[in-house]
Amino acid sequence: MKKDIDFGISYGINETIQFGKKLAKIIEPGDVFKLEGDLGAGKTTFIKGVVNALGYNGIVSSPTYTLINEYNINPKIVHIDCYREQNIDRWFFLGINDYFDDNSIIFIEWPEILESIIPINKSYKIRIKSIGNNKRDIRFSL
Ligand SMILES: Nc1ncnc2c1ncn2[C@@H]1O[C@H](COP(=O)(O)OP(=O)(O)OP(=O)(O)O)[C@@H](O)[C@H]1O
Ligand SMILES: [Mg+2]
Repeated sequence: MKKDIDFGISYGINETIQFGKKLAKIIEPGDVFKLEGDLGAGKTTFIKGVVNALGYNGIVSSPTYTLINEYNINPKIVHIDCYREQNIDRWFFLGINDYFDDNSIIFIEWPEILESIIPINKSYKIRIKSIGNNKRDIRFSL
């Protein structure tokens, strides 16, 4: 199934979390979501909504040093942030291919470096764009 939700405009953090919760309703094991948007756009906030909807209520932070955060919920959610690691060999060293092999659902911030190993058939792109103050335009894109 090709996923497409018209999220629309978020007017604050909580609304972005709600959009993440909305996505959580239609995700399936193996899905990969590439999150596009500038620094501080709200990518991590959106992922917080997804994991909250699946029953995880702990802290959701950026995988700044770990590079990969895993949430052992059902289905398992993997949050990857490539911003600080642009060396593909380092990702291979971390076993990045294994994440795509299993039935997790993967969210990737700054995904460009991993583009060649992301499975095309089950990957989607979500763009978050700041349109001033606390306003964000959130949508699926091609
Ligand atoms: N409508 C909104 N939705 C999400 N975040 C918002 C919104 N309005 C303001 N913000 C602020 O924008 C920031 C979003 O931070 P977040 O870590 O989610 O962004 P990010 O895209 O993951 O950034 P990075 O690329 O640095 O990882 C927070 O400081 C939050 O308070
Ligand atoms: Mg982030």
